[in-house]
Amino acid sequence: MDLKKHVQIALGYFLIIAVLGLVLRLFQVVDIPANYRFVVHTHSHIALLGWVYTAITTLLYFHYVKDKPIAKKYRRIFWSTQLTIVGMLVSFPFTGYAFFSILFSTLFLLASYWFTYFFLKQIDADQKQRQSFKLIRVALWFMILSSIGPWALGGIMTTLGSSSPWYRNAIYFFLHFQYNGWFIVALCGFLFVVLERYKLSLSKKSFRVFFLLLNWGVLLSFFLSVLWMKPHPVFYILAGVGGVLQLAAFGILFRKIYTSFQRLKEQLSLPITRLLIASGIFLLVKLIAQLIGAFPEAAQSISANIDLVISYLHWTFLGVVSVALLAFLNSAKLIYIPKLSIPLYLFGFLATETLIFYKGILVWIGGSLSANYHYFLTFASISLVLAIGWVFMAQFSSKNR
Ligand code: HEM
Repeated sequence: MDLKKHVQIALGYFLIIAVLGLVLRLFQVVDIPANYRFVVHTHSHIALLGWVYTAITTLLYFHYVKDKPIAKKYRRIFWSTQLTIVGMLVSFPFTGYAFFSILFSTLFLLASYWFTYFFLKQIDADQKQRQSFKLIRVALWFMILSSIGPWALGGIMTTLGSSSPWYRNAIYFFLHFQYNGWFIVALCGFLFVVLERYKLSLSKKSFRVFFLLLNWGVLLSFFLSVLWMKPHPVFYILAGVGGVLQLAAFGILFRKIYTSFQRLKEQLSLPITRLLIASGIFLLVKLIAQLIGAFPEAAQSISANIDLVISYLHWTFLGVVSVALLAFLNSAKLIYIPKLSIPLYLFGFLATETLIFYKGILVWIGGSLSANYHYFLTFASISLVLAIGWVFMAQFSSKNR
């Protein structure tokens, strides 16, 4: 199985979404003959279902089932899934949510169920005992859970309409369980694969506590996503408890990494260690930010402020998820990362985040924006495109094969 090719496809989506993200920012600077919302739909679907899904599922195959005689069947699942992603890529920009894009998104969901069933079926009794696998299994269940969001959208659209609060909640449900559940828990699973390799797993008891805190944290912190509706005070408490549980779970994990750091550093290469530390710091910031978002005053101001929401989401996607994915793909030797592409990426990431967050704060306190703001944001987004393009291109250079 040519897993490197699969990862090149994932990186190709990463580059496409970076370019689409740049196009979205250029809308503020030049006249673009396209529909902004349609481009947002393309960008967000290809980001979550193209880049992150393809990268995670390839790592799952690599770590758990690559030695089993299932290549032929898996190839069928892989290429069917890719067909649905390319279908979304060519339909969303021109039609937004319409017949073909909905058809391909629905087929994608079915393909992801097919993958989950197929993957779980291959796991043997020994693998089932591993801490990493327990995380991966629950991550897959969070992915299945997230898909209730899109299924519910159909019903909500036809009965209540797209202006109903349930429409927004269904999208938030999907997003929440995609990134807090599926992505972050699967990434924890990959971290445990590394820990297990060097015999640094948590003790049985610590793992049980970590696992419970993490899962309850993911479930309860969903309530953060409904605070925009100003619900009953009990929802604020549940959301806050969810945030605290997630923070406590990662407290256990960070402590383990801290105490095993010398041994890990000896085993992992310097770029991988640095990428994982960066992703961990970004995760800590995210966890603190989400806890702040559970307070009624902050919840109101944040949910009504699109810049703060976008900066929070991209902090998680570009900082926590994509950086960790690059590290794990590199550690599995499925990609090569040119040395200087990382500082360029981090510059683009931190610069775009600072600018969007700054605008969010200005909107909040009622300040006025510099006339050059959108040029700066475009410039910073160009660095992201260049960095991701560089990583993508490097996979094809004969010296890196
Ligand atoms: C690589 C550079 C990226 C740039 C320049 C970028 C830029 C943008 C912009 C301008 C929007 C539209 C905001 C709006 O008007 O609603 C957006 C939305 C979105 N982006 Fe990105 N993005 C990037 C990467 C990513 C990545 C890596 C992911 C996920 C893995 C992602 C996921 C999303 C999602 C889910 C939305 C929709 C948010 C919503 O509807 O509330 N983006 N992005």
